[in-house]
Amino acid sequence: MKEKIAQIAQEVSALVAANKEEAEALRVKYLSKKGEITALFNEFRNVPAEQKKELGLLLNDLRNKAQDKINSLKESFASSDATNANEDYTRTADPVLLGSRHPLSLVKSEIIDIFSRIGFSVAEGPEVEDDWHVFGALNFSPEHPARDMQDTFFVEKNPDILLRTHTSSVQSRIMTSQKPPIRVLCPGRVYRNEAISARAHCFFHQVEGLYVDKNVSFADLKQALLYFAKEMFGENTKIRLRPSYFPFTEPSAEMDISCDICGGTGCAFCKHTGWVEILGCGMVDPNVLEACGIDSKEYTGFAFGMGVERIANLKYKVKDLRLFSENDIRFLDEFQSAY
Ligand code: PHE
Repeated sequence: MKEKIAQIAQEVSALVAANKEEAEALRVKYLSKKGEITALFNEFRNVPAEQKKELGLLLNDLRNKAQDKINSLKESFASSDATNANEDYTRTADPVLLGSRHPLSLVKSEIIDIFSRIGFSVAEGPEVEDDWHVFGALNFSPEHPARDMQDTFFVEKNPDILLRTHTSSVQSRIMTSQKPPIRVLCPGRVYRNEAISARAHCFFHQVEGLYVDKNVSFADLKQALLYFAKEMFGENTKIRLRPSYFPFTEPSAEMDISCDICGGTGCAFCKHTGWVEILGCGMVDPNVLEACGIDSKEYTGFAFGMGVERIANLKYKVKDLRLFSENDIRFLDEFQSAY
């Protein structure tokens, strides 16, 4: 037995392991229930009494040495992991996966930023609205086609509750709850019952604006929109207003900007007209002011509304609207450096 102890002691002092798993295998080999050192302890029971003292000391010593050795092998792997992770300052940095802001958020923030510089604040309202705030207060006649099932999503077959089709509903809320001067931007998601294609979706995002005060004129509207177009699309951008119709504005207009791809000379993007439409606008109809409790003899106002997707399309040259809502990481990653 003495020789056996000496032999194992020699083996133990020379033990090596290449990794944690090998060190664990050594523990099993020597120290587990069926391990070689444990077997010696079992044999020790049969050792004659006069040898017990000497062999007992040797055996205990062997077991302690084996435990120390194997533990230190194990620790060496644990600490070498730590060294790699924390202490090797020469290693290349782990790639940090950065998220990016969604292009629609980027554009929305930029629109808000531009108008906030001329005194507009932001107001939000519910996406599930009642008929009055979306249509009634805004001078839509009861038979106006926008109320039709084809355009509007109604909630639980209750024709009075619907998903707002524009954020003008927030303007109705502001006008009924605040006194002029009102200078507010209403960003948010809107819903229309349209077939989904590259150019249309059943929901999209708007930023609408409203300014109500004494002596607000069409010239103020034009000036504010020209300022916006130049800030958003560059100093050389031109605007043009075409007469249009909205129930809640009179007169109404649609605004085009000079195509920033061809600089107005005509290309496929602007369908060779040199102009692209970006928003609707007009002077708030006196009927709307009155419906919301504002004296239309004392106050006038202008309003405008634009699709955030439309502005983002122009700014980032995105051809297919669906990309904005599909969460394709490859598309979203392209905006990492946008701001
Ligand atoms: N609410 C209109 C729309 O959704 C946009 C608009 C707002 C037009 C304000 C004129 C004035 O199309």
